[in-house]
Order: sequence, then structure tokens, then C-alpha cells
Amino acid sequence: MSGVEDKVVVVTGAGGGLGRSYARFLAANGALVVVNDLGGAREGSGAGTQAADTVVDEIRSAGGRAVASYDSVSEEAGAAAIIDTALKEFGAVHGVISNAGILRDGAFHKMEAASWDAVQKVHLYGGYHVIRAAWPHFREQKFGRIVVATSTSGLYGNFGQANYSAAKAGLVGLINSLAIEGAKYSITANAVAPLAATRMTEDIAPQELLDKLNPELVAPAVGYLVSEENQDTASVFVVGGGLVQRVAQFQNNGVTFTAPPSLAEIGAQWSQINDMSDAQLGRNPV
Ligand code: NAI
Repeated sequence: MSGVEDKVVVVTGAGGGLGRSYARFLAANGALVVVNDLGGAREGSGAGTQAADTVVDEIRSAGGRAVASYDSVSEEAGAAAIIDTALKEFGAVHGVISNAGILRDGAFHKMEAASWDAVQKVHLYGGYHVIRAAWPHFREQKFGRIVVATSTSGLYGNFGQANYSAAKAGLVGLINSLAIEGAKYSITANAVAPLAATRMTEDIAPQELLDKLNPELVAPAVGYLVSEENQDTASVFVVGGGLVQRVAQFQNNGVTFTAPPSLAEIGAQWSQINDMSDAQLGRNPV
């Protein structure tokens, strides 16, 4: 029996790109999949049923089990309806892959509040709403698997993506706290920063690179993180082109001042404060 067999997994934004690969991979491994997709354009405009329906048809014709959902993750009611679809159709929800996303790129000096808000609504609020709707079920059944889609833009920054980077880094903060709150209920929460050729990256990365980034190379690691086998939590992985790697924050031993230092005293210790040669995996000091 595979680690996702008979598990009910909601994949948001599964009507194309990476989400489609996740949904197909999970269904091929015996999971029952809610294929959620609003069916809009890359910047988030419009809506339609075709994207989700097509993926559900693909899964069913391959002998898998899936149901379509067309609600938006960015509203509380939409997210509740997505989780309700899992409960009504399959009687449970065991995993959420918060993958839906849009782009509204632009240099920060030109970034209007509307682009900022639209991106936070889908990525960060979308993650919150869908996971929040599944959370009581996870707690009650003492099992839950959460994977959020973060991005190297959130981990390291990227020109023209201040809105997107902030939302993606916010999702890492979310899983860090959910991992702590979920631990005693066997709920794990992890993040994957994918690299894949999809409509989101088609005009951003060079073709030679895109040719190496089949989304199907990302799906197995995401599938593992929603499986029963996975016990890892609060971890971040960069996955793409066949490479699966963990990313983490490190902290050094720092410098301790016994009294408030002067500017000159801080300056004198600055290189020691920045010396990462003794760094270890970071942890919450409280
Ligand atoms: P995509 O544009 O092919 O897929 C995103 C899907 O989300 C679309 O099908 C879209 O209709 C759906 N969606 C958008 N707003 C929605 C809403 N409010 N409710 C429900 N569905 C909605 O893009 P891709 O590349 O597959 O991206 C998937 C995730 O991976 C996104 O969160 C993206 O930010 C993230 N990502 C992708 C990278 C890549 O290399 N492709 C790099 C880093 C992160």
C-alpha cells in the first residue's frame, strides 16, 4: 500500500502546471483528489470550469479518482466550499496542497496597492483560508498533511516580485507555526519552492532551462510530503529539474553584550556578528 492510497488530498490550482502534475501523480498512486482551480488567467482575471474538468477527465480516464472544484481560494467561503467538496465526495480530507497562484509583477516603485493585494489574496490568504477550513478535520482525525507552494523569490528575493516574494515568504512563516501547533495531532506542514516550466514561467526563464524543468519532476517530492510515511515538518525544499534539496535558516553564536553597546561598539563587533563559520540550524529562542 502506498503512503497516499485512499488518502483524500485537496490540490488548489490543479487545473494546469504544477498542480495538475501533483493531482495526476497522487491519483496514480491511489489518492482521492479534489482538483480545485478557478480557471482564470495568469494575472488572476476571469474564471472557468474547463481547467479543473480537463484534469479530472485525465485522471478518471487513467482509472484514478478525482472530483473538480471551481471555487476561489482567496475567499473564506470559497475555501470552505473546496474542503466541503472533499468531505461530500470522499468523506474526509487528509491533505492540502496549497498551490494556486497568480502573478502581478512590477518594479516596486510602480507597484500599486491593487497588485499587492491581489497577490496576497491568492497566495497568502488562499493558503490561510484553505488550510484553516481543513484544520479542524485534521485535528479531529489526528492526521493531516500540508504542503504550501513557496518560491525561491520568497526565500531569496527577485526583481519585480516584491508582492509575490512577501506572500511566498509569509507562507513559510505559516507552516513554521502550523508545524508546532499541529505536532500533537500528527499534522505536518512543509513548503516546496518548485522550479518548473508552466505558463507562470514560460516567458520568464530561457527555453534551454525550461526544457529541463518538467513539472512531473516536482510531483514525487510533493507526493511524499503528503504521504503517511512523511514525518518531516516545518521544512522547506527546493524541487525542480530532478533535484530535490532542503533549504534552511542558520544562525551563528553571535556576540553577547552585557550592557547596551554604543554604535562604535556594535561597529567593532560587526564582522564577528556576521561570521557564519560556527553557524547551526536556526531555532526559536523562546
Ligand atoms: P500556473 O499558472 O500554471 O498554475 C496556477 C493555477 O492556480 C492556475 O491553474 C490558476 O487558474 C490557479 N488559480 C489562480 N488563482 C486561483 C484562485 N484564486 N483559486 C483557485 N485557483 C486559482 O502556475 P504554476 O507554475 O503551476 O504555479 C503553481 C504554484 O507554484 C504557484 O503557487 C506558483 O507561485 C508556485 N511556483 C511556481 C514556480 C515555477 O517555476 N513554475 C516557481 C515558484 C513557485
